[in-house]
Amino acid sequence: MHNLQQEVSLKSFNTFGFDVNCKGLIRIYSISDFQRFLNHSFKPFKILGGGSNILLTKNLNDYVVKNEIKGFDILEEDDHQLIVKVGAGEIWHQFVMWSLEHKLCGLENLALIPGTVGAAPMQNIGAYGVEQETAFLSLNAIHIETGESHTFSKEACHFGYRESVFKNIFKDQYFITHVTYCLLKGDQNLHTHYGAIQDVLNLKKIQKPSVFDIAEAVMDIRNSKLPNPKVIGNAGSFFKNPVISTIHYAKLKSQYPTMPNYPISCDAVKIPAAWLIEQTGFKGLIRNNIGVHKNQALVLVHYGNGDGNELLSLAKEIQNKVKTVFDIDISPEVNIW
Ligand code: EPU
Repeated sequence: MHNLQQEVSLKSFNTFGFDVNCKGLIRIYSISDFQRFLNHSFKPFKILGGGSNILLTKNLNDYVVKNEIKGFDILEEDDHQLIVKVGAGEIWHQFVMWSLEHKLCGLENLALIPGTVGAAPMQNIGAYGVEQETAFLSLNAIHIETGESHTFSKEACHFGYRESVFKNIFKDQYFITHVTYCLLKGDQNLHTHYGAIQDVLNLKKIQKPSVFDIAEAVMDIRNSKLPNPKVIGNAGSFFKNPVISTIHYAKLKSQYPTMPNYPISCDAVKIPAAWLIEQTGFKGLIRNNIGVHKNQALVLVHYGNGDGNELLSLAKEIQNKVKTVFDIDISPEVNIW
């Protein structure tokens, strides 16, 4: 294929910046490109989005397919809303910026999340009280085994906390080509309840925030807490926030009265993994070329010239310590290749 490069370093294709090679890199610009690729039987292969949610631990004996399908296609528009179909290879943050330029609401809390539009529904990205599923309408994906194009409604995606069918029952079975979102006009349905957003708005003395004020607040918070992957290699939150039983929570609460918590049902509580990691003493740790970020303990970092395996060992060490101290299992949010 004309868009195949043999033996490519993936260093600039993963936000951790780990330097591993793959057997070949194929860039896909359209649905027909992907169907042609399937006919060539380049196997085995892995699909890469923005590379912002993977940890590369070894040279890959696989081809890597990079989704470069672009475009914003407005399908419907009225006085209240606009429906847009977006190429899965578009950069998520650029899509958020596009929505703001068009004065549309729904994505403002998700500004600055790294990665592509295609990866967003895959792990149902979320931040500051909103998940992408709120604005999601449907997606188109090609079934890798048959080459057929399928449409998935919101219900069919089974979104959960950093979860969808594409991370479990349909893992590695589909190539997402387009995602369709419904965005609202006017300053409708703004989510300002997340503590940190309200703090920024109060500081700026904004009482009736617009969609732009919220996006700006989110960007300020993220820039102050989360390292820029262009400066320090990272993949955002490395672990998911664990959910424990209320019984377990009650026991821990008596021992750690300041433990933050988010009740999610009558018998389950979500605990910030960042707090657990900070309590076990890892926050700010620097070990050779890797470490735990000094402002956000959930973010593992690579300072350059390191090895993904070093980072994986540190992640396991953190998991073991959290298990020993709190009897809580924390599991990675990032994919490990
Ligand atoms: N905390 C600590 N130590 C820290 C950081 C946080 O103790 O170093 C505690 C604080 O009590 C704080 C609480 O943890 O109130 C929650 O922290 P934060 O608001 O920063 O959010 P998080 O739970 O650590 C989640 C997402 C982030 C998202 C933020 C904001 C996950 C795994 N992570 O982090 O998503 O930006 O909420 O909504 O759910 C990502 O997925 O890559 C990501 C960055």
